[in-house]
Amino acid sequence: MDRQQVVLHMNHGMGDNSYAHNSIIQNKVMREAKPIVEENIMRLHTIIPIHCFKVADLGCSSGPNALQLVSNVIDIVHTTTSNLNVKPPVFQFFLNDLFGNDFNSIFKSLPQFSEIIEEKKGHKLGPCFINATPGTFYKRLFPNNFSHFVHSSFSLHWLSQVPKELGNNKENIHLTSTSPPRMHKAYLEQFQKDFKLFLKLRSQELVSKGGMVLTLFGREETRDMRTAWRLFGITLNDMLLENLIEEIKLESFNLPLYDPTIEEAKEVIEEEGSFTLQRLESVIMGWDGNINEGVDDKNKLDLNMRAQFITKQQRAALEPLLKAQFGENVMDELFLRFKNKVVELMEEKILEFPTLIISLIKKA
Ligand SMILES: C[S@@+](CC[C@H](N)C(=O)[O-])C[C@H]1O[C@@H](n2cnc3c(N)ncnc32)[C@H](O)[C@@H]1O
Repeated sequence: MDRQQVVLHMNHGMGDNSYAHNSIIQNKVMREAKPIVEENIMRLHTIIPIHCFKVADLGCSSGPNALQLVSNVIDIVHTTTSNLNVKPPVFQFFLNDLFGNDFNSIFKSLPQFSEIIEEKKGHKLGPCFINATPGTFYKRLFPNNFSHFVHSSFSLHWLSQVPKELGNNKENIHLTSTSPPRMHKAYLEQFQKDFKLFLKLRSQELVSKGGMVLTLFGREETRDMRTAWRLFGITLNDMLLENLIEEIKLESFNLPLYDPTIEEAKEVIEEEGSFTLQRLESVIMGWDGNINEGVDDKNKLDLNMRAQFITKQQRAALEPLLKAQFGENVMDELFLRFKNKVVELMEEKILEFPTLIISLIKKA
C-alpha cells in the first residue's frame, strides 16, 4: 500500500495537539457551506422520491467536525420534508477517511451524538444508520448508482501523492514564488489528474441527479496557504544549519497538497464532464479563522496568541507527516520556531486564504 495512505492522518485523540481540539477553522468553513449544502439537498428531495437517503462524507477525520455533516443533513432534511409535508427518509451515512484515521474516537462519540439528535428531533426522525468506509477517495468506495449526496470538506486539496516529476526541491517543502515553472506544472498536473479521477469515480457512485458539495483550499494572487508552507521550509532549513535535522530528509520531503484557483478547478470539472456546476464560490478567511471577529476589545487575542492558534491548527494537520519524515523529537522545536515566524509575518501583513466551495449535480 502507498506509504502516504498509511502515514497521512490528522492528529488523533483528544489531546492538546489533536485535530479534535484544533479544527475550528474547518468548522467555520462547514458553517459557511451549510446554505449551499441545503440548496443542493432540497433540490434533490423535490425531484426524486428517497426512501433511504444515502450520504457520504469523504475525508471526515475525527473530532466534532466528523459528525457535523450528519447533524447538518438531518437538520436540512427534517426541515425540507416537514415543509413538503412528507415522511422523513431513513438515513444512511458513510464516513470515509484513510486507514490511519482515528475512527475509534468517532465510534466512541456516537452514543452521545445519537442522544442529542433524538432529543432534538424525537419521534419525527426516521432511523439513522452511521457507517465507516475506510479507504482512499481516489479509488471506488461504493457500488454503482448508490449514493444520493456526497460531501467533502477540507480534504480534496490532499493529492494522491507528491508529483513524481517534481525533481529536487531542496530548500522547500512545497511550491514557492521562486520554484521553477516545471515544478508548478508538476503540481498542477497531479491536481488535474487526481481531481478528474475523483469526479469520475463519484459520478459512477452517485444516482442520476445526485448532488455533491466540496470545499478545499483555494489560491489567489496574494492570498494563500503556500506562504505558511514556505515558512515551514525556512524553519526546516534553519534547523538543518544547526544539525537538528538531516539534509537528505529535507531534500526528499514535499507536501502532497494543492490549492487550485477558481479557474483551475472549473477547468477540470468542465473537462471531466459528468457534473453540472451549480456554484463555485470563494470564501476568504484569516489564517487564524478571524478569531477576533465579534470579540470585544478586552477579550481579543494578541499577535502571539493568534500565531499560537495558527500553529496549533497547522500542527494538528501536518504533524503526522512531518513526524514520519523528521522524527518526533524535533516536533516541539519545529512548531515553536514556526510560530515565531508567523508572529513576524503578522506584523507585516494580513494573512488570509481562500476556500473554494463547489456545488455539483450529476448529469442524468
Ligand atoms: C483537514 S481534514 C478535514 C476533516 C473534516 N472533513 C473537516 O472538515 O474538519 C482532511 C482529511 O482528509 C483525509 N484525506 C486526505 N486524503 C484522503 C484520501 N485520499 N481519501 C480519504 N481521505 C483523505 C485526511 O486523512 C484528513 O482526515
